[in-house]
Amino acid sequence: MSETPKTLRELIVLGEAYLRGRAVADPRTVCELLAARLFNCGRLGLHPHLDVVPQTRIVDALRRGLLRVAGGEPVQYVLGRWDFRDLTLKVDRRALIPRPETEQLVDLVLASRQIKETPKPLVVDVGTGSGCIILSLAHALRNGVFVGLDISAEAIELAQENAALTGLAERVLFAESDGCGEFDPASVDVLVSNPPYIPSRTVDGLERHIRDHEPRLALDGGPDGLCVYRALLLDAVMVLKAGGGVFFEIGDDQGPALRELLDAHGFSEVTIHKDYAGRDRFATGVLNE
Ligand SMILES: C[S@@+](CC[C@H](N)C(=O)[O-])C[C@H]1O[C@@H](n2cnc3c(N)ncnc32)[C@H](O)[C@@H]1O
Repeated sequence: MSETPKTLRELIVLGEAYLRGRAVADPRTVCELLAARLFNCGRLGLHPHLDVVPQTRIVDALRRGLLRVAGGEPVQYVLGRWDFRDLTLKVDRRALIPRPETEQLVDLVLASRQIKETPKPLVVDVGTGSGCIILSLAHALRNGVFVGLDISAEAIELAQENAALTGLAERVLFAESDGCGEFDPASVDVLVSNPPYIPSRTVDGLERHIRDHEPRLALDGGPDGLCVYRALLLDAVMVLKAGGGVFFEIGDDQGPALRELLDAHGFSEVTIHKDYAGRDRFATGVLNE
């Protein structure tokens, strides 16, 4: 960008062209998001600033943000925060960026019999990452015991920071764990998870902003993408109460495989749910009495 003073509107136009030249998807939105972050507002809140020449520190910060995004970093990591349902969460490379479809997984849990009919359900989120799922559940529900687990110590650190940020630290417990086999037998009402489910060979072919920046541990589901589901189901049959529910996010081609796995592990009411784009995205089941 040239050094001649420019209004924010002009800077956004220049930034958009710069990002487009570097093959960044949706460059206008990205520019506006970066600018809005600097003014501590939403994109719509930019309006009063558009025809003003911003302070040098804002121009410099915008330039730094554009450089990072042009270098392949996801805009969410550059912003350092991202909205998920009703919460604004800290996001950085310690954990996966929460995706909009995962908000629907929270809806499925909230609408479940296990939640509606249990006075104080024990709800466990395995592979909690940023904590987006379990924090949203705790935020939405008055009663319950909420636990988020992750094999990654870094993710747990971030989830704990998010619990503090959202005022939920007293209500959600986070711990490092491989799976969820440490609970007492037949004690858990809801087991929810968005585990890594991308087949290992596919991970290297993902878009660079995902492959090079989001944790591989959050993406790689083993040779067929199903390894963590298999391990979790072994734990689930031990720790879930009879009548307890599993709620999984899945890859859009994994519905038949998940149905088979849930059937084979003694779950009934097995259902594959679609996301808003009409693709198979969630698998749920109830542990047989
Ligand atoms: C796809 S990310 C989901 C993060 C977050 N729940 C979300 O929906 O944005 C999967 C998470 O599972 C964790 N994970 C992978 N294998 C695990 C295991 N065996 N036990 C517990 N967590 C695991 C990863 O570290 C990662 O944080």
